[in-house]
Amino acid sequence: MATKTVLSCIQPTGDMHFGNYFGAVKNWVDIQQKYDCFYGVVDYHAMTMPYNPKQLQENTWELIFNLIAAGVKTENLFVQSLVPEHAELSWILNCFASYGQLTRMTQFKDKTQQVEEGNADGFISAGLLDYPVLQAADILIYKADFVPVGKDQEQHLELTRNIAQRFNNQVGQEYFVLPEPLFTETPKVMSPADPMKKMSKSAGEKHYIPVFSTPEKIKKQIRSAVTDTGDTPSGEMSQGLINLFELLKAANKMNQHHSLMSDYQSGVLKYVHLKDTVAEALTEISVAMVDRRQQLDENKEEVKEIIRNSSAEIRKVAQKTMNEVKSLAGLMNIKM
Ligand code: TRP
Repeated sequence: MATKTVLSCIQPTGDMHFGNYFGAVKNWVDIQQKYDCFYGVVDYHAMTMPYNPKQLQENTWELIFNLIAAGVKTENLFVQSLVPEHAELSWILNCFASYGQLTRMTQFKDKTQQVEEGNADGFISAGLLDYPVLQAADILIYKADFVPVGKDQEQHLELTRNIAQRFNNQVGQEYFVLPEPLFTETPKVMSPADPMKKMSKSAGEKHYIPVFSTPEKIKKQIRSAVTDTGDTPSGEMSQGLINLFELLKAANKMNQHHSLMSDYQSGVLKYVHLKDTVAEALTEISVAMVDRRQQLDENKEEVKEIIRNSSAEIRKVAQKTMNEVKSLAGLMNIKM
């Protein structure tokens, strides 16, 4: 049986934290054994909200370096703007996307609301509305069988399938593969300062733990993690504690997880002991990644060249699809 193809992408938005790492990146690394993987850093997508051009390119390289340090294979990695066929396909797919459906996307509605309420800068660009069509192009151009998605991206995947189906109907053949979601067990990592909220950068520094950090900082942040929120019904574990146990599990520290959990159940758990165990587990991951990152930083230009080359290789797959799509769609197609 042929190896199935997986595609996934992340936006270059700076600092990687343990929410990104356990929620997405670690999974990218793990599934590389099993599938043919295409992993993109999507800089075209990052232009849909107000941004700074200089910083965009910096953030793009930064994320590439961090992904390699995390264990993503360079041959699977590409930068979206080095494969301009994504943008070209996205135009064609626009003509098969329903405007009404785009206006109903939750992410579009949320971001529109933020701008309208003055909680985000800028204006509502056509790019923001069109964002999921570019995402559909990312997926369809590699004929991906699977897309690892979180709940928040399911709607975009459904839209991708609708677009692919409409194109297939138009051209009278099952040309595009209809991608399926790849649900994997990924933990939901919450903010240490407010364990009711997802760990995220947008809420501010207290709300995320960077992966590229120091043991001291990690310990400090975990030590000050909120454990008692006051509104936990008696007999139930507080969200803060749940989050700490979840982090331990995410870091594969199952033995410590079991033993601390039984301490909790028999009422002898010392929170500081749990916290220090979690901090150690995160530090172990962090130290290894910081170390690999430093090695990469010593050969920055070489690494960039490797990624330009892997993007060029991956581009060949995209170009083949583009040629086929142009012919099917009745466009001119010159072999160059
Ligand atoms: N929209 C995704 C996010 O916000 C990023 C993304 C862009 C993506 N293109 C994709 C994810 C293709 C999966 C497949 O996280």
